[in-house]
Amino acid sequence: MLYEDILDTIGNTPAIKIKNLSPKDINIYVKAEFYNPASSVKDRLAKNIIEEAEKKSLLTPGQTVVEATSGNTGVGLALVCASKNYPLIVTMPDSASIERRKLMRFLGAKVLLTPASEGGTGAYKKAQDLVRANGWFYARQFENTANADIHEQTTGIEIFNDFKEMGLDYFVSGYGTGGTFTGVARVLKEKMPKTKLIITEPDVAPLLASNVTQERDENGSPIASHPKWNPHPIQGWTTDFIPLVLQESVDNEYIDENIPVSGDDGIYWSKELASKEGIITGVSGGSTFAVAMNVAKTAPKGSTILCMIPDTAERYMSSILFDDVNSEMNADELKLFKSV
Ligand SMILES: Cc1ncc(COP(=O)(O)O)c(C=O)c1O
Repeated sequence: MLYEDILDTIGNTPAIKIKNLSPKDINIYVKAEFYNPASSVKDRLAKNIIEEAEKKSLLTPGQTVVEATSGNTGVGLALVCASKNYPLIVTMPDSASIERRKLMRFLGAKVLLTPASEGGTGAYKKAQDLVRANGWFYARQFENTANADIHEQTTGIEIFNDFKEMGLDYFVSGYGTGGTFTGVARVLKEKMPKTKLIITEPDVAPLLASNVTQERDENGSPIASHPKWNPHPIQGWTTDFIPLVLQESVDNEYIDENIPVSGDDGIYWSKELASKEGIITGVSGGSTFAVAMNVAKTAPKGSTILCMIPDTAERYMSSILFDDVNSEMNADELKLFKSV
């Protein structure tokens, strides 16, 4: 297949049937976003934020782009900015994985680390200050309409096209900005209204479950951390405020059910997906899959479930996900080695 531009390879990701882990008589598919060129779902919004800004002349050739991100958006933007020749500065809590930081720098971006204790809002405010001081372009993934719009135009339509004949009973996704959930929900609520839309968040950070209203300024930016937020190991999920992009799903009642998940379950299912299915995904993919497996327990026979898989496990080799994976031979391997 010939492509004129790396950016043309974004999207159109496969929905893959789970063969070994699915309970009997339930069909589980995973939408594998690690097929995107920078290996995550965020490539979609990165491309659209830049191209929408170009169309509206909010971004001029060579202008610096700034974004606050826990990681994958920074990697996606770094790829898009490298390809389109924009300097990129990313602000990120220093809790985000080393792989993300290095990959962004490898793609030519500058990475500024804010203290993890300040949460996502610390990174967000640092980006805001840089933009104000220098007149740079702020990508603003948490509020930018280009975010959910691209998921409506691509992710949602891809899902509709893949499942319109077979039918889809449940769609399961976590949220970072809420772009994936909101964009897909716009399509499914209209075209497949019987599909149940299930969102999930870390059990220790039940922002949506709490029904506490997020404090915002006039632009929709968070003023303060949400009181129910706590640190959790599901990188890419649930920053310490409810983003405006996700608020649309709350206001329009797109969320049929919110099922919490623990980081331990996410890690367990990420390992299961790798070792039993050959699906290589991070903790958030494992966490979403944990919820899909829970849904499967009570779903009627013959149900079809689609689970979002946002990125790849390779982005977490320095994290808790790989803690018990050795680089040296273990006792078993040594025994085998010495046996001949
Ligand atoms: C690693 C990762 N990136 C991105 C996303 C999706 O983010 P958003 O809600 O911003 O579309 C998720 C959520 O599932 C995630 O876990």
